Amino acid sequence: MSSETPPPPAVETAGLSRNYGDTLALKHLDLTVNQGDLFGFIGSNGAGKTTTLRILATFLAPSGGTAKVLGHDVVRDADAVRHIIGYMPDFFGVYKDMEVTEYLDFFGACYKIPSAKREQTVTDVLELVGLSEKRGALIGALSRGMQQRLGLARVLIHDPRVLLLDEPASGLDPRARIEVMAILQELQRMGKTIIISSHILSELQTLCNRVAIIEKGQLIYSGPVQGVRDQLATGRVMWVRVSTDIDQAVSLLKSHPQITGVENLDGRLKVTLADHESDHAIVADVLVRGGGRLVELREDELGLEEVFLRVTKGETQ
Ligand SMILES: Nc1ncnc2c1ncn2[C@@H]1O[C@H](COP(=O)(O)OP(=O)(O)O)[C@@H](O)[C@H]1O
Ligand SMILES: [Mg+2]
Repeated sequence: MSSETPPPPAVETAGLSRNYGDTLALKHLDLTVNQGDLFGFIGSNGAGKTTTLRILATFLAPSGGTAKVLGHDVVRDADAVRHIIGYMPDFFGVYKDMEVTEYLDFFGACYKIPSAKREQTVTDVLELVGLSEKRGALIGALSRGMQQRLGLARVLIHDPRVLLLDEPASGLDPRARIEVMAILQELQRMGKTIIISSHILSELQTLCNRVAIIEKGQLIYSGPVQGVRDQLATGRVMWVRVSTDIDQAVSLLKSHPQITGVENLDGRLKVTLADHESDHAIVADVLVRGGGRLVELREDELGLEEVFLRVTKGETQ
């Protein structure tokens, strides 16, 4: 029998808590991010995203619980963690009067990359973020999107295995956002684990293979994006039209225990099923058996953002 131990998760927190005075910013957060994930960390403002990422980045001590990055404890093994993570804070100062290469060279020196190797490293990361043409430019002269990509280049300089990016797309125009997302996909292909936070679920829905949603410092969902709707949406809505008597259709539908609501809206019926596991075939079945003729049956695709907003509505301080 093989005695191989499975690789540690990229990130694992257990009962992670943090308070600021009387404010409980994180309450027993259990989070697992697997190696190779492009992981979306979602929550409305004040949910605790920045607090979590700062703890993982060893900038902030937990008040309780543990957090590990690739098996290294962020408190006991902080130095090891710092070498394997690249942390991009939500706000970082840009050195407007510095040239792009000077800036990256400076951070390369901070990570003790030997000077002989630094020039190549800087060239490589600039290439990766699509800023090769701007190597001699002053940072202050770059667009917001380019500055954000430079921020990414900076966290890549020591070739970290895990990237912690705090709302890297916020404040970017759609085009600049797409450019950043494309870079993140490329980094995932290179084998890096990426955790990206956002307060907009739909912004990450096509990008990430897994997401976690937190609210008031607590985990409310963790898993694939497709699962969010199933787990968080209550009820399932179908739109129905019949060519037979509509009042008869309404009473047929209302008689079924798994159908919790039927509304006649200008000849179209809005039918609500008890839960997401209810099979929409129920609707067709009930009608056809009762002698009704179905001309339309369509599921209401509740937008992911709508689900998210409903779940988090009014929950932030
Ligand atoms: N330095 C701080 N001092 C006091 N309260 C803080 C501090 N930082 C964050 N908080 C509070 O902790 C909670 C979580 O904040 P934060 O982690 O920044 O959330 P997010 O990044 O999801 O917006 C909020 O209630 C916030 O007001
Ligand atoms: Mg934040």
